[in-house]
Amino acid sequence: MIEIFKKSPVIPVLTLNDINQALKIAEVLVEQGLNNLEITLRTPNALKCIQAMIKKFPSANIGAGTIVHTEQLKQVKDIGCNFAVSPGFTKKLVNEAKSLNIFYLPGASTPSEIIQLLELDIKFQKFFHAQNAGGYKMLQTYANIFPDVQFCPTGGISPVNFTDYLSLNNVVCLGGSWMVSNMDYPKIKNAAQLIMRRLRI
Ligand code: 3PG
Repeated sequence: MIEIFKKSPVIPVLTLNDINQALKIAEVLVEQGLNNLEITLRTPNALKCIQAMIKKFPSANIGAGTIVHTEQLKQVKDIGCNFAVSPGFTKKLVNEAKSLNIFYLPGASTPSEIIQLLELDIKFQKFFHAQNAGGYKMLQTYANIFPDVQFCPTGGISPVNFTDYLSLNNVVCLGGSWMVSNMDYPKIKNAAQLIMRRLRI
């Protein structure tokens, strides 16, 4: 999974409630090469949106975000999600993901949380909320302190600073919603194209 994330290291984080809108956004993003998509479980129809997206874009790597209950891990596994993401973690969530055999990216922001995840053998962690938790400079520091840990920073990342994060050796990929901050499809396409251009530099 880490290799798949590396190939398309900007992961749009989508909060969607309308299936048609979800399919249109996924089409625009995947067409531009943003093949890894995280859909948050924050709306009543999130699971239905994810299900429709997986069906229509089987080659995209689609996962669910904002997992806060163990039951959600089974739900997203059952509808075919490739991965599940949490803003934080509990031992219960980590164990449930292991027993369901779904790729799980739990969140941490402090040294103690990172160490607790290491104790659970999780070396790829979401760094959340990236900007408020110290930004890419904090991750630079963590590279020295935790050389074995790789991160997916998410939260507050923008078109201005995403390449700073990606330039760090301990950053595999990052998540953000800036490219879909409005439901204007031409604007989303432009934002995705801009990301792809910056990734090629
Ligand atoms: C989220 O919580 O929706 C994600 O972390 C994305 O955060 P962002 O909207 O600040 O990019």
